[in-house]
Amino acid sequence: MSDKEREFEFTDKDFQNIRNLAQARAGIFLSPKKRDMVYSRIARRLRALGLIDFQQYLEHLEENEDEAQDFINALTTNLTSFFREAHHFDLLAEQMLALANKRRGPIKIWSSACSTGEEAYSLAMTAIEAFGSWAPPVRILATDVDTNVLSQAKRGVYASDRISKLSDERIKNFFVKGKGSHLGMVKVRSQLKDLIHFNSLNLLAPGWPIKGPFDAIFCRNVMIYFDKPTQYKVLKRFHPMLLDEGLLYAGHSESFQHAADLFRLKGKTVFYPVTKKSLDGS
Ligand SMILES: C[S@@+](CC[C@H](N)C(=O)[O-])C[C@H]1O[C@@H](n2cnc3c(N)ncnc32)[C@H](O)[C@@H]1O
Repeated sequence: MSDKEREFEFTDKDFQNIRNLAQARAGIFLSPKKRDMVYSRIARRLRALGLIDFQQYLEHLEENEDEAQDFINALTTNLTSFFREAHHFDLLAEQMLALANKRRGPIKIWSSACSTGEEAYSLAMTAIEAFGSWAPPVRILATDVDTNVLSQAKRGVYASDRISKLSDERIKNFFVKGKGSHLGMVKVRSQLKDLIHFNSLNLLAPGWPIKGPFDAIFCRNVMIYFDKPTQYKVLKRFHPMLLDEGLLYAGHSESFQHAADLFRLKGKTVFYPVTKKSLDGS
């Protein structure tokens, strides 16, 4: 879109200011290619607030702490689906059963950028199927920086087409079809929700209000929005949050070669933490 066609003036300086803020507040790196996307997403905030230009919006953002969350919510990309990268769930089922054979106590899993919840509910379905029980020994923490998607995740209500690729058995077991005004919608069964605790968490925040360590951390398709130094910082904080035999599940295009002192590849986009024991090969 050319500058002339735009409803609001959007200068290079405005774009640069927004890039800096997105990176500082949520780690989100916006390349120059994202200029049109940034314009259209933040223009919606200008309309909602009745502001006349981006400079006014940036001033509003500086003066109103409340806007900070809407700013982040506007810039996140939340694409997700049930059982995305299905091989991860097969490996997780094996990992969970092996752990349950070795020790007592719940298996702890963290979905650290859960978006609208499909990832966390897929983890819960995997646990129920693996243990053949509606109350498997599994606890799932699901977090995201975007509070809008988190509300949707907590509701667990989706358009029916979101589950069209799932097997009939999974649909029958885990979803309730909406009727009347809810026709065309499905809701996850309460037993799935019972296994999950949803909370907002910014991976870049100085403190994480959560209790580890975890057996598995799912951090999929979020590091792609961070630059390498930011990725490294987050990985360094993940390391002590994982048990020595825990696994980090990453997105399909994410590689952590720049953090080989922390995590090494175990299999397709799954990483194990480097520990003294793993280095000794014992
Ligand atoms: C593309 S979605 C990935 C969802 C899911 N993990 C998957 O792979 O299908 C990326 C998610 O990362 C979240 N995100 C972006 N920056 C974040 C941050 N600093 N802390 C926590 N979550 C963040 C976004 O809000 C978004 O929901």
